[in-house]
Amino acid sequence: MVLSALILLPFLLLLLYFIVRPRPVNIPIKNRYVFITGGSSGIGLALAHQAASQGARVSLLARSLTKLEEAKKSIRLSSGVDVSIFSADVRDYNAVQRAVNDAGPIDVLVVNQGVFVPQELEKQELDEVRFMIDVNLIGSFNVIKAALPLMKVRKDREPTSIALISSQAGQVGIYGYTAYSASKFGLRGLAEALQQEVIADNVHVSVIFPPDIETPGFEQENKVRPELTNILAASSGLMKADEVAKKALDGIKSGSFVVPCNFEGHILAIATAGLSPQRSFWMASIEVVFAGLFRLIGLFFQWNWYGSIEKWHAKKNET
Ligand SMILES: NC(=O)c1ccc[n+]([C@@H]2O[C@H](COP(=O)([O-])OP(=O)(O)OC[C@H]3O[C@@H](n4cnc5c(N)ncnc54)[C@H](OP(=O)(O)O)[C@@H]3O)[C@@H](O)[C@H]2O)c1
Repeated sequence: MVLSALILLPFLLLLLYFIVRPRPVNIPIKNRYVFITGGSSGIGLALAHQAASQGARVSLLARSLTKLEEAKKSIRLSSGVDVSIFSADVRDYNAVQRAVNDAGPIDVLVVNQGVFVPQELEKQELDEVRFMIDVNLIGSFNVIKAALPLMKVRKDREPTSIALISSQAGQVGIYGYTAYSASKFGLRGLAEALQQEVIADNVHVSVIFPPDIETPGFEQENKVRPELTNILAASSGLMKADEVAKKALDGIKSGSFVVPCNFEGHILAIATAGLSPQRSFWMASIEVVFAGLFRLIGLFFQWNWYGSIEKWHAKKNET
């Protein structure tokens, strides 16, 4: 059994080497134009610092001009680079289009803006549900739709990137994230279909799936997060914005479609690979060989989470 598996393995690797699609790609950052939505805070700001220090020209888009000015100042202080800033709400397509047209052709578009208000759907107002879908999902459509025409007509033949910041709550539903998870799962569908539409234009799509991250947004979220959301989300740990920005930038540069950020993220990426594009035949071989094992690990996660939910309700009923 083991012997026949070992004999078959080279054939599997060879087969995967030929069939993985899209083909591997490298997307340079140095001397290129990186445009980051939600770039005035948290992950977006950390990404802006790292892209600027790697020699990219950087622009940031967000709503508050004050926060944008502060971000611009901090990047100038840390890397000596002057970034451009654009104040617009991603929900306003015309405002986004004006900003993107003023910015000019983008090489790496990072669609990072996002809002998260965790609450059980039964208690959450529909306005708040719409708010998350509008900013996280429709806002991403607005940004991509506005930027894509100029990205496609760029004169140099270098590969370009559209990167979407999703969340691990965009790979698996988590208690208290009914609306947020829906908005972030939507980004994956957007990205999978979009990649097929833009591959011929040498545009490469990445989706980044971070766990909880220490950011100003997370600090706000924590004030209202249901206890059960805290318990379940704790299974994937907490990261720093700089660490996530590094993982995201490395993933973008290597053109990876799915970009996990920590160990649990790698497990989730393999367990939820589905029919997603895969450029690396090494990663493809892990997905193929360990599919069953990772499904088992996924089932253990669900066992643990449903156990926590049961215990929590039992404790609540006692009091
Ligand atoms: N922090 C986490 O635990 C975590 C985990 C997984 C995924 N994520 C995702 O990572 C991304 C960044 O999160 P973060 O924690 O860095 O958030 P953050 O610190 O709150 O920063 C959010 C950024 O988005 C901008 N923004 C918000 N609404 C906007 C709108 N309508 N139009 C334009 N810009 C808007 C904000 O600026 P203005 O308010 O001035 O507009 C700010 O620059 C989000 O997509 C989030 O869902 C975060």
